[in-house]
Amino acid sequence: MTVAPTLPGAVTVRAPAKVNLELRVGPRRPDGFHDLATVFQAVSLHDEISVTRWDEWQVVPAGTYAALIPTDGANLAVRAARLIAEQWDVDEKLSIRIDKDIPVAGGMAGGSADAAATLLACDQLWGLGLMRDELAELAATLGSDVPFPLTGGNAMGSGRGDQLAPVLARGTFHWVFAISDVGLSTPAVYAECDRLRDQNGGATEVPEPQVSSELMAALRSGDPVALGAALHNDLEPAAFSLRPDLKELRDAGVEFGALGGIVSGSGPTVAFLTESHEASLDLSVSLAAADLCRDLRRAKGPVHGAHVVGAPRATE
Ligand code: C5P
Repeated sequence: MTVAPTLPGAVTVRAPAKVNLELRVGPRRPDGFHDLATVFQAVSLHDEISVTRWDEWQVVPAGTYAALIPTDGANLAVRAARLIAEQWDVDEKLSIRIDKDIPVAGGMAGGSADAAATLLACDQLWGLGLMRDELAELAATLGSDVPFPLTGGNAMGSGRGDQLAPVLARGTFHWVFAISDVGLSTPAVYAECDRLRDQNGGATEVPEPQVSSELMAALRSGDPVALGAALHNDLEPAAFSLRPDLKELRDAGVEFGALGGIVSGSGPTVAFLTESHEASLDLSVSLAAADLCRDLRRAKGPVHGAHVVGAPRATE
């Protein structure tokens, strides 16, 4: 066991992945985005970001998916750090260690979690004392999914998905995430959603998106059976159209006893809700035997949003 290098004086922040329990997509807006009505749940797969003052910008990859982390300026964590430095006139550069345990390009908002964690870590390192809503505003400029990992728990998202409101919920839910070999591009999935809607009578006639009362009731009651039945994703037909193998995977998981199966966000990760921790173990075994995906991860939700931790976790 080795601990990937973390430099003295580092601030470490842990941020969670998300699953969209419901994702309703409105018509395409003139700016190319879509209004959403969505319910996020933060789940117990976490990335950790450690920031330290350094004489140049650098990304130090670590963790399960280290090999898949972009180390250039395109990394959303670097963009987040540069943004906050620029806005608050901080003339410093950082070494940013990213310990990645959230599947990459999977619809679980791993890059967004890194950006959210970096904002909070920079706030601490530089002693800026920003309020949560100031951080959320910066987060929204980096991407639609960046504000949620700051908040965590369960939340309703509107606008581009970046305007958050708390959701009343009880209980803990047990998930299995089936991870694909190849990523799916978010803009491509939204474009396919528009194309399918045009083909089926016109994307302009799509109603304003609204979260269902069934889903809200299921969260309030903490009933996994009701939640499984209420899971919904408007992007799913588009993800299935681009990747028919995902439908096969979803159907297999439901046949193996999942309470519900859904493409997570814009995919390609498929999320399965199960009755209990034991049921999630059983489902993982069945899905692994069926050999329909590259990797399987179990997690529970909801969990807390981004928070400072004392020391980074040890990695293999
Ligand atoms: O905000 P984010 O960078 O995550 O968005 C990536 C892409 O996903 C956008 O360029 C757009 O094509 C699509 N998108 C959308 N409507 C949203 C969020 C994302 O069309 N509400």
